[in-house]
Amino acid sequence: MSVDLVVVANRLPVDRVELAGGEPGWRTSPGGLVSALEPVLRENDGVWVGWPGGTDEELEPFETGGLRLIPVAMSEADINGYYEGMSNGTLWPLYHDLVAKPMFHREWWDSYQRVNRRFAAKVAEVAGENATVWVHDYQLQLVPAMLRELRPDLRIGFYLHIPFPPAELFQQLPWRRQILEGLLGADLVGFQLPEAAANFRRLVNHRVGHPTEGEDVILPDGRRVRASAYPISIDFEGYEELAKSPAVEARAKELREALGNPRKVFLGCDRLDYTKGILARLKAFGELMEDGHFDVEDAIFVQVAVPSREAVEEYITLRDELEMMVGRLNGDLGRIGQPAIHYMHSSYPREEMAALYRMADIMVVTPYRDGMNLVAKEYVATRINDDGALVLSEFAGAAEELRQAWLINPYDLNGMKAALLEAHQADDAELKRRMKAMRATVRTHDVAAWAKSFMADLESRQL
Ligand code: F6P
Repeated sequence: MSVDLVVVANRLPVDRVELAGGEPGWRTSPGGLVSALEPVLRENDGVWVGWPGGTDEELEPFETGGLRLIPVAMSEADINGYYEGMSNGTLWPLYHDLVAKPMFHREWWDSYQRVNRRFAAKVAEVAGENATVWVHDYQLQLVPAMLRELRPDLRIGFYLHIPFPPAELFQQLPWRRQILEGLLGADLVGFQLPEAAANFRRLVNHRVGHPTEGEDVILPDGRRVRASAYPISIDFEGYEELAKSPAVEARAKELREALGNPRKVFLGCDRLDYTKGILARLKAFGELMEDGHFDVEDAIFVQVAVPSREAVEEYITLRDELEMMVGRLNGDLGRIGQPAIHYMHSSYPREEMAALYRMADIMVVTPYRDGMNLVAKEYVATRINDDGALVLSEFAGAAEELRQAWLINPYDLNGMKAALLEAHQADDAELKRRMKAMRATVRTHDVAAWAKSFMADLESRQL
């Protein structure tokens, strides 16, 4: 069967599981990206190329849940250099406003090039004649150019899920030109926000010297690369349906009871990442209690921190700091059987997340920098009664669309406290007005619309 569409991402959209008989097997991961791309892959005889997790395992292509998957193996050295090193020790902090200090190591860069070349070679091998390839995210920024060199017949799109920084930050990167040239191998480069696309075009102009015209970069051979914004979203209907289900409703009630039926529940759900502003939000909440605005009968905070990148030093330190803070706040503010902060270091399936969202009165999303933040949109989708408050950082991409949230600057602790208090005290009419508007926005701009618009623009590029 010829392959007309190849999706390429660092990870394959599957998790390893143990099947009924104890056999190892796969289960499709619950992410929105998979649900958005699945129909597109099916329509186009598509495959997904990515890392299956684990080390050194040369797996044959396989099929699961209707998806055709092509594994790319990684050694321990690749994981250290390419994944934990260059991707998450250099690019991640650099692209997120230097919230942590990026580290620049030449061996990491070598590893990044090697792994990107391996991905490009695999795609070149499986893609049919004139196929379309959609490359995802910061781990694979060299793939478009490497692939174009191997297979000039392909139509190549690239989408960056995280922010793209302004020149003042990006130019610290010793390999800035190579990254820009890597991305220019694509016909269409998509970003979350128009500002990120503009940063990219400006950088290409200054650092590589190519002129731009509107959203296009014009290369010396006349080829045009479009850099434009496509804000990603969620499966709105899927979350809404889930939130309406009796099982989720019952679970939400059960969770609330387990918490001792406090008058209001604040909720934070994040990957345990230093970009998310978890410490600052808990500090703000703790101070509101210390200031006497509420006690554990009036309000508690549930914080879910999903384990992430656990071998990277900054993440290890953050976990220690967070757990120390939770312990301190509970010691100071909690009562016997009534902690102020309920902290879970765990990941949960979609159903449980939907129940948590339904149960919570105030969703608190306070990143210092975030490409989009899908948790904010998921919360909105599950508020089927148009209630609940969203406190949202203006530095999350989602703030561009969710204007009716209580928008905050996470660096301004007093401002954040004021917004948390306002959201806590808002009356039903105010909550409804805001939530209704946000729900209408996410409903019409869901992840299917996102995928469709990117694919349509990619397909319409003149090659
Ligand atoms: O959105 C950024 C991102 O790195 C995605 O590429 C990835 O799916 C997610 O965060 C989780 O990160 P990781 O694959 O490093 O666990």
